[in-house]
Amino acid sequence: MAAPVVDAEYLRQVDRARRQLRALISNKGCAPIMLRLAWHDAGTYDVKTKTGGANGSIRFEEEYSHGSNAGLKIAIDLLEPIKANNPKITYADLYQLAGVVAVEVTGGPTVEFVPGRRDSSVCPREGRLPDAKKGAPHLRDIFYRMGLTDKDIVALSGGHTLGRAHPERSGFEGAWTQEID
Ligand code: HEM
Repeated sequence: MAAPVVDAEYLRQVDRARRQLRALISNKGCAPIMLRLAWHDAGTYDVKTKTGGANGSIRFEEEYSHGSNAGLKIAIDLLEPIKANNPKITYADLYQLAGVVAVEVTGGPTVEFVPGRRDSSVCPREGRLPDAKKGAPHLRDIFYRMGLTDKDIVALSGGHTLGRAHPERSGFEGAWTQEID
């Protein structure tokens, strides 16, 4: 699919937002929750109906109050000043850019960022994101619905090298990985 076209001013604001995101994420140490926000906005995608996905709809209470999104209002609020500063950028693009910068700031690869996502005010029904209490068949159902493969499930789960679970959000506790000296 051809990348949507954005104008020069949009690209200028993307560059500025990228710099502001680097500062915010480094200063606040909030890379994990930013990556989780990007993933939870995107991870509602349904390849058959072409609904959900990275469209900024997680900014609405109807969606961020889903159980699987517990805690993500923190990230949404942290990004609001950057949105206000760069008003042309859609929420959909800003949330994905925050994920890209989170990976970069924590020493990961520079992920190519293609702007042009449109915002939607239609929130998907609860239940499109994976449930950590269910097993592999469930993960396959969820990721195949997004049009992804087993390989994608394994690669994307590498996102859990960042951050940890919080009992007051998911009911789980602790990090998935440990630093070894
Ligand atoms: C494979 C299915 C997945 C399940 C069942 C799952 C489940 C969870 C759960 C239960 C938490 C803990 C939330 C909390 O208590 O704060 C979490 C955190 C997190 N998830 Fe996932 N996740 C999945 C996939 C992904 C993917 C694909 C990414 C990104 C590529 C991702 C990125 C993260 C990050 C960065 C955190 C840490 C957030 C923080 O420290 O605040 N997850 N995930």
